[in-house]
Amino acid sequence: MLPIVDKPLIQYAVEEAVAAGATKLVFVTGSSKKAIEDHFDSDPELERALDVPGKEALLDSIRGVLPAGVSCVYIRQGEPLGLGHAVLCARPAVGDEPFFVHLCDDLIHGDPGCLRQMADEYESHGGSVVAVEPVPPEKTSSYGVVAIDDSNVMTEIVEKPAPEDAPSNLAVVGRYLLDPAIFDKLETTGRGAGGEIQLTDAIADLLRESPVHAYEFSGDRYDCGSKLGYLKATVAYGLAHEEIGAQFAEHLKDL
Ligand code: G1P
Repeated sequence: MLPIVDKPLIQYAVEEAVAAGATKLVFVTGSSKKAIEDHFDSDPELERALDVPGKEALLDSIRGVLPAGVSCVYIRQGEPLGLGHAVLCARPAVGDEPFFVHLCDDLIHGDPGCLRQMADEYESHGGSVVAVEPVPPEKTSSYGVVAIDDSNVMTEIVEKPAPEDAPSNLAVVGRYLLDPAIFDKLETTGRGAGGEIQLTDAIADLLRESPVHAYEFSGDRYDCGSKLGYLKATVAYGLAHEEIGAQFAEHLKDL
């Protein structure tokens, strides 16, 4: 729910997913995350209060939080057992079709959005698609890191390797388009790096049977799970903001 300028990160995530064609949104959350459900719920009382002359823009912005034709499912992950476990929690809601995984702390500014680019990539060859980005070699221990062949098909993926063990400097960012076969892999994935059930380990299992494509997206990524990344995102989105961008640029110059 951390806002970047005037919208929570989760709202950017929903907009990116919907622009890529998603119509069913599955939120896997932990305890004390009720604010997310509340954010996407309608608020008749607030709508009535804003239904007055001069407040049209505000009224539109709260009505547009969830685009028409999109439904939401909320699932609680009882224990924080890892990203792989969180994805497995979504299995009953996802069913037997390809699905996106979107980690909201990775904010990506792309045109089209990163998930849309990945859906287009998927259309051309099927299988699964994982977004990647080159990172400085000393940073590999913060990411899933992949090796690829000449056609960008993954041959290896390792969770948070030390630089000397990393198969490359191509890091997984928080966007995946996965074949539902991943769920059977996750059912048997044991605890991995950090003692958690890792999505990376299930993908390592999947790629032995079905192609997983590494996709270098076009756009700028901000790791909003880090203080510096969060500030960089705020500055970039603030400068690009229609209403306040120019004034904000002036202010930064003054500083
Ligand atoms: C998760 C994944 C990791 C991936 C990263 C991207 O790690 O486990 O493979 O590279 O997201 O943001 P986390 O950041 O949750 O530790």
